[in-house]
Amino acid sequence: MISKIARHAAFAFLLTFQFAVQAQNNIKEPLTIEDKIKALLQKMTLEEKIGQMNQYNGFWEITGPAPAEGDAKKKYDHLRKGLVGAVLNVKGTTNVRKLQEIAVKETRLGIPLLFGYDVVHGHKTLFPIPLGEAASWDLESIERSARIAAIEASAAGINWTFAPMVDISRDARWGRVMEGAGEDTYLGTKIGIARIKGFQGDDLAANNTIAATAKHFAGYGFAEAGRDYNTVDVGTSTLYNIILPPFKAAVDAGVLTVMNSFNILNGIPATANRFLQRDILKDKWDFKGFVVSDWGSGLEMIDHGFAKDLKQVAELSANAGSDMDMESYAYVAYLKEMVETGKVDIKTVDDAVKRILRVKFKLGLFDDPYKYCDAAREKELIYNPAHAVAALDVAKKSIVLLKNTPVKINGRPLLPLNKKQQKIAVIGALADDKNSPLGSWRIGSDDNTAVSVMEGLKKYTSAITYAKGADLVIGKTDFINEVKINETDTSGFKAAVQLARNSDVIIMVLGEHGFQSGEGRSRTKLGLPGVQQQLLEAVYAVNKNLVLVLMNGRPLTINWAQENIPAIVETWQLGSQTGNAIAEVLFGDHNPSGKLPMTFPRSVGQVPIYYNYYSTGRPGPKPEVFWSHYTDESNKPLYPFGFGLSYTSFAYSDLRINSSNPAKITVTVTVKNTGSLEGTEVSQLYIRDKIASVVRPVKELKGFSRFSLKAGESRSIEFVLTPAELGFYDNNGNFITEPGDFDIMVGTNSEEGLKGSFMLK
Ligand code: NOJ
Repeated sequence: MISKIARHAAFAFLLTFQFAVQAQNNIKEPLTIEDKIKALLQKMTLEEKIGQMNQYNGFWEITGPAPAEGDAKKKYDHLRKGLVGAVLNVKGTTNVRKLQEIAVKETRLGIPLLFGYDVVHGHKTLFPIPLGEAASWDLESIERSARIAAIEASAAGINWTFAPMVDISRDARWGRVMEGAGEDTYLGTKIGIARIKGFQGDDLAANNTIAATAKHFAGYGFAEAGRDYNTVDVGTSTLYNIILPPFKAAVDAGVLTVMNSFNILNGIPATANRFLQRDILKDKWDFKGFVVSDWGSGLEMIDHGFAKDLKQVAELSANAGSDMDMESYAYVAYLKEMVETGKVDIKTVDDAVKRILRVKFKLGLFDDPYKYCDAAREKELIYNPAHAVAALDVAKKSIVLLKNTPVKINGRPLLPLNKKQQKIAVIGALADDKNSPLGSWRIGSDDNTAVSVMEGLKKYTSAITYAKGADLVIGKTDFINEVKINETDTSGFKAAVQLARNSDVIIMVLGEHGFQSGEGRSRTKLGLPGVQQQLLEAVYAVNKNLVLVLMNGRPLTINWAQENIPAIVETWQLGSQTGNAIAEVLFGDHNPSGKLPMTFPRSVGQVPIYYNYYSTGRPGPKPEVFWSHYTDESNKPLYPFGFGLSYTSFAYSDLRINSSNPAKITVTVTVKNTGSLEGTEVSQLYIRDKIASVVRPVKELKGFSRFSLKAGESRSIEFVLTPAELGFYDNNGNFITEPGDFDIMVGTNSEEGLKGSFMLK
């Protein structure tokens, strides 16, 4: 404390000194952003300050509970009075300019608005859903997707995205797993950083970069039983080691904003959680940007049983460090009164406003509030053909080959498909769908703009016939409403089975509809929805040369398919270029290299299931029942984290560990392409800290390397382990490393690899 005061005093002195010297020499240094913020703050009334802390949804799309009738009029009125600092869900240069003009020309101080939007996996050109893209393990491609998303969004007037979601989640029932990078903190952290870099670029003042948001702070991915918005109850060690690191890394990477979350943590809603927002985020991590609430998360504290009314919401949220209120209407209505009655210190308001203005200054909005409103630029950049090329590239890399048994048709393997002489039958509603493969969370995009699987395949061969087999959904689907699944109508089966009988190869495209995952879309069943499993079995009964192409936004339990179907390809929802990417992989023009970012369970009863679990005291197996297991299911997943095959094969050898320097332990391994095709492998390094003061997981990913090898080629791959990889957070949130024994494993997924060990001195 004393040293803090001393530091401040010294700093104040230096400032005064600097000004005195400047005045004496009459030097005019350009004003810094902090000087400008200070000057502007001095001119602002309390109402205007609170206005900056208020964010309203626009008047068209909604991404949360529908606002009350008559709100639009009130919002315009507030906008004109300078009582709005940011809006969300307004897009397009014309719409953005209209609102920005009101803020700039009609309010007393003319402070420009921030325009927030959920630009999650592309704006118009869509990239794979984030979970799918994470399967590429390709940080450069992921950064490029976010860069392009920012280019298109900024061309459409948007200057702030509510992405990336860096919530770690181990529960496939939770619909929002599609929006994150999966179950692992190490991979998720690297991907989060790549996305932030992509959105924010190198120059925030440029007109093609946008502010990013690390969300949802914190714990939202641990909703109990995977039910969205549900209670979160996690232990301290999980909080520090699993949940918080991607946020810390986001802050270190310069993320401009953080969004809090709907859930409680230790009984305190995140929006009113001082420990999270002040002690950790702003004090310990020194975050200089601002915290935006999630949609109505302040208001929801009344239902949580934490605040008695909106007044108290304003008090508790502001004091806890939630700087901007999205759609709760609490600050705009009551924060003034809370300040005037002494419940909220004006310094708290000033701090929040400074943070918000800082982001606006950094984006260059005060220099040119219309910098994102150039209609010609919008026209040129939206759906730019170069963006489609990048979308195709990362879509291919996101595909995971789950199974490929070497069955032969006319002497050739089933996959990759023979480009000639085969009669191919394509079955499944999703194969002919141009909308569902775009996935969820893509409110800025246009419906039906994906290249369908049929369209992609037809570019390779005309010997292709289609039968739907069965509808997947009934009626219309959208982002707001529940999807209705066809659970009964099997009338199309007959035609599909007939077609299968008369074909050489069947490609069945099955899975979830794009709007079955995403916010508010939790599921208790993880099998193929509707009548698809029945359809799969009916078709397989007449023709076993079957390739199952899965489309889904979360891990599925597809045990029957794994046991019976010879080839299975996981394609998630790949976005605009879906059909082209799938066709290239099926016909072998792209050798698949994706690896699962999330464990696939064998049954819902195993969930949450994840690779980096702790050993129990009874790991077993044992002959008697007294060990940690199920009596009706294996402990093993269907597919482990990091799993993914290739059309070629890789062999690992020669594991070497050099642990002489504890600050830099090197691990090398030789990887050889032992097949007959060029391919890309993602080698993964896992550690186990064998004995620690807080028990460590049985495995933790601490390095990976993605590289290509020609047939027969070998390469030595090096990993470096530093204290950053070998340490962990204790239960007080301190990062520590402890000397002792470590096991390591380097290999092709979290279950297969070469094993070694070393001692950390
Ligand atoms: C609620 C979601 O939880 C959040 O992620 C999103 O950014 C906001 N709505 C705004 O759409």
